[in-house]
Amino acid sequence: MSIPDIIIAVDGYSSTGKSTFAKMVSAEFGFLYLDSGAMYRGVTLYAMENGMIAADGKIDEEALRADIDSLDLHFRNPEGSTLLYLGDRCIEGEIRTLAVSSHVSPVSAIPFVRNYVDARLHAFSADGRVIMDGRDIGTTVFPNAEVKIFMTADPDVRAQRRYDEMIAKGQEADLEEVKKNLLERDYIDSHREVSPLSRAEDAYVMDNTHMTLHEELVWILGLFQGRFSILEAPALTH
Ligand code: DC
Repeated sequence: MSIPDIIIAVDGYSSTGKSTFAKMVSAEFGFLYLDSGAMYRGVTLYAMENGMIAADGKIDEEALRADIDSLDLHFRNPEGSTLLYLGDRCIEGEIRTLAVSSHVSPVSAIPFVRNYVDARLHAFSADGRVIMDGRDIGTTVFPNAEVKIFMTADPDVRAQRRYDEMIAKGQEADLEEVKKNLLERDYIDSHREVSPLSRAEDAYVMDNTHMTLHEELVWILGLFQGRFSILEAPALTH
């Protein structure tokens, strides 16, 4: 089955499994996967490590603005998995901690940070055939994306999934804290002035509260078949 070289935008609330879904689709159908949230997390980690975020959470925007254009944040793909690098340093582990999660939404609300990330994402996507996940991909970054998906799920289920993921990675986690953090991020992400999280009018909604990963894949396969008039259904590997 051949899916054309298109851009697939996957947006939605925190911890709805956007990246798991996008990675699976990327592996199954041969798309480049780009995690836009990782870029915001990378900027946040840089700001934290360079004393630009005070203990009370206040961000030194002037200091960050002075450095942002020289930040070399990029992805590398060893053995098919996508890892974020700052220069030659792999920061994939550091950007997933609760400390970064608790500062990333205010950092991502800063307009010059969004401009920086958007420009990088466009450069990384220059060859097309990309699946990208985030909050504003279908509305702002790629408003002409051929396929847009908006993911949602029950907040308790989302908190439990994120908690399990952190425990599996050996990180410390408290379920209530995790839930509080993700609801706070949903609120900030949906209410900021610049490109808030919202469903693009032409996005397909996936509520995966009760879906397995395989069911998610069957769902998008059906969508592709309908959109691109593909009759045969390939054997899925996930
Ligand atoms: O998907 P994530 O949890 O890794 O994203 C981290 C934060 O980055 C999220 O709280 C909001 C922000 N973000 C954004 O504002 N726009 C995007 N396209 C992706 C993420």
